[in-house]
Amino acid sequence: MKKGRVFSGARPTGRQHLGNYLGAIKNYVALQENYDCVYCVVDLHALTTLADTEHLRTWTYEMVLDWLAAGIDPECGTIVFVQSHVPQVTELHTILSMVTPLGKLTRLPTFKEKVRQQPDNVNYGLVGYPVLMAADITLYKADVVPVGVDQASHLEFTREIVRTFNHHFGPVLVEPQAKYTEVPKVLGIDGINKMSKSLNNHVELASEPEELYARVRMMVTDPQRQRRTDPGRPEVCNVFSLHNVFTPQETVGQIEADCRTAGIGCVECKKMLAENLVVHLAPFRERRSQLATDPDYVWDVLRDGAERAKTIARQVIAEVQTAVGLP
Ligand code: AMP
Ligand code: TRP
Repeated sequence: MKKGRVFSGARPTGRQHLGNYLGAIKNYVALQENYDCVYCVVDLHALTTLADTEHLRTWTYEMVLDWLAAGIDPECGTIVFVQSHVPQVTELHTILSMVTPLGKLTRLPTFKEKVRQQPDNVNYGLVGYPVLMAADITLYKADVVPVGVDQASHLEFTREIVRTFNHHFGPVLVEPQAKYTEVPKVLGIDGINKMSKSLNNHVELASEPEELYARVRMMVTDPQRQRRTDPGRPEVCNVFSLHNVFTPQETVGQIEADCRTAGIGCVECKKMLAENLVVHLAPFRERRSQLATDPDYVWDVLRDGAERAKTIARQVIAEVQTAVGLP
């Protein structure tokens, strides 16, 4: 007997990076053991920025291939689908928008950030982004939502909408809990910003070993450590934080001590990290290229996923329609 339902979504950004993996996908995979899981490619959300829409199809393919290679398993019941293939979400979005105060949307830090990024395209869809996200989650009555910590305000917002909706119309929707990994925010190779494809500070999971070495070599370490003989501060070093994830614990202790006494330099430290990354990701790359030998597989998974998602969506939207009193 499963403990409940998990839902998560991600914009079709193509090949996934270490941030996506450590912040979200790791939990997508782990939660499959005890929950019914639903994972969604949120293509409508991607339209809010109106950039790169010509890539939506390839990037959907590349992203889902990464998910499957990382261990998301439709054969065990997990539903993987594309948001726009289950149009009930747009109806729920409209209904939820009626219980959403506009001021709350425009005050969200994520909205303000988008306005800074695209001041010439502050469209209606962009303001409603979190309402569509709330519709995604509540259409499947999800109990748990694995996401990176950058989504915390969106999750809190969804919980508020659910409370307001249920207060007005009765206990129909489920209030979801966010679920974070031990590394809920991964920094990019610049060591400052969140790892993200749009900042080109990312490391792709599917990288070939040479590419992994090259990207790790570019990583910014402790800025105060300028000469090889300067002692380092592992607690402020992004390379060290990744050693914590990819390097065996005994070795991590040694690296920490050697960094503090300048016993090891950054170049060597990065080389060790890259080696460990290559080893860690080898089974992933192997599985990815195996799955890619059948170019239809991803689309078959998504077609089947949409059918199964619709079965749930139709039922919940019917409950919602009745609750709000639509004739
Ligand atoms: P996105 O590609 O922005 O749609 O994100 C997909 C998922 O990965 C979301 O759950 C994000 O919170 C998570 N994520 C993206 N970038 C990072 C990062 N740098 N650190 C941790 N989690 C991340
Ligand atoms: N806003 C999320 C992001 O940018 C993507 C997303 C859309 C999502 N709908 C969701 C995440 C539902 C979790 C649940 O990463």
